[in-house]
Amino acid sequence: MRLHDKVAIITGSGTGLGKGIAKRFAREGASVVICGRRIDKVQETVEEISGAGGTAIGVQADVADEASVKHLVAETVSHFRAINVLVNNAGVRGAVGDATSMDLDGWWEALRINLSGPLICARHVIPAMKESGGGSIVNIGSMRLVHVKAGAAAYCASKGGLIHLTKVMALDHAADNIRVNLLSPALVLTPFTQYVVDDFDDPEEGIRYFGAQYPLGRIGTEEDIANAALFLASDESSWVTGAHLNVDGGMGAK
Ligand SMILES: NC(=O)c1ccc[n+]([C@@H]2O[C@H](COP(=O)([O-])OP(=O)(O)OC[C@H]3O[C@@H](n4cnc5c(N)ncnc54)[C@H](OP(=O)(O)O)[C@@H]3O)[C@@H](O)[C@H]2O)c1
Repeated sequence: MRLHDKVAIITGSGTGLGKGIAKRFAREGASVVICGRRIDKVQETVEEISGAGGTAIGVQADVADEASVKHLVAETVSHFRAINVLVNNAGVRGAVGDATSMDLDGWWEALRINLSGPLICARHVIPAMKESGGGSIVNIGSMRLVHVKAGAAAYCASKGGLIHLTKVMALDHAADNIRVNLLSPALVLTPFTQYVVDDFDDPEEGIRYFGAQYPLGRIGTEEDIANAALFLASDESSWVTGAHLNVDGGMGAK
């Protein structure tokens, strides 16, 4: 029960990595707040966690919309009276293409959700964390922070900004005992990345193909990411702030 008595908001937790993190945190004793724009996905996660004996509520929220984030924080405080952990996990791919061909709406969407979203959420969660005597903010980056990909400027730039946002926020809020860290996953199959195996006749072949490119010989799992998020969220990392943890099967070492 490494998060016993803790209240955690995990953004974008109706699916994928956020859902995995929320389920893991709930098993470790946290009261979790599930949020996203699609309320049906949010409710599915809440029901899974409640069905397994955990404590969860669901709130429909858009991290890029400040009024929506204020509502998320107010609902959390009204239900659980505190906020100890924020995982800024919600993310989108955004525009694809080079500078001349990309759709600018998709560029702004990536910046609004992937970079401004974590700032807006932190901005409204930090006062509640201060009242609780501190807290932990975990920003979810990507291996694409460092290993950029052609045609993915919107995604890479929006995630790249999280390095400096994380470090500056770590300095700004250290005196409040609020830690801010960055966790960068490499490939895990989720609704976000499912397309990478779509070109293979057998998806298992695709999984083996991509896994073979990693020093540890496989792609990641939701549990790999949830375990690392748990470390950064819990008091086990109480002397860690402003750090960037790659959870990438060794890809960053290549
Ligand atoms: N899977 C990977 O291999 C991988 C690798 C590196 C980094 N990541 C990062 O990990 C995070 C989770 O990705 P995933 O793979 O789990 O993909 P996913 O299943 O598509 O999850 C993304 C979640 O974010 C939510 N979301 C998107 N925009 C939002 C907004 N404006 N407000 C609130 N929620 C929003 C989505 O729900 P709604 O659409 O319902 O809002 C969705 O549940 C992302 O930040 C992604 O960049 C993933």
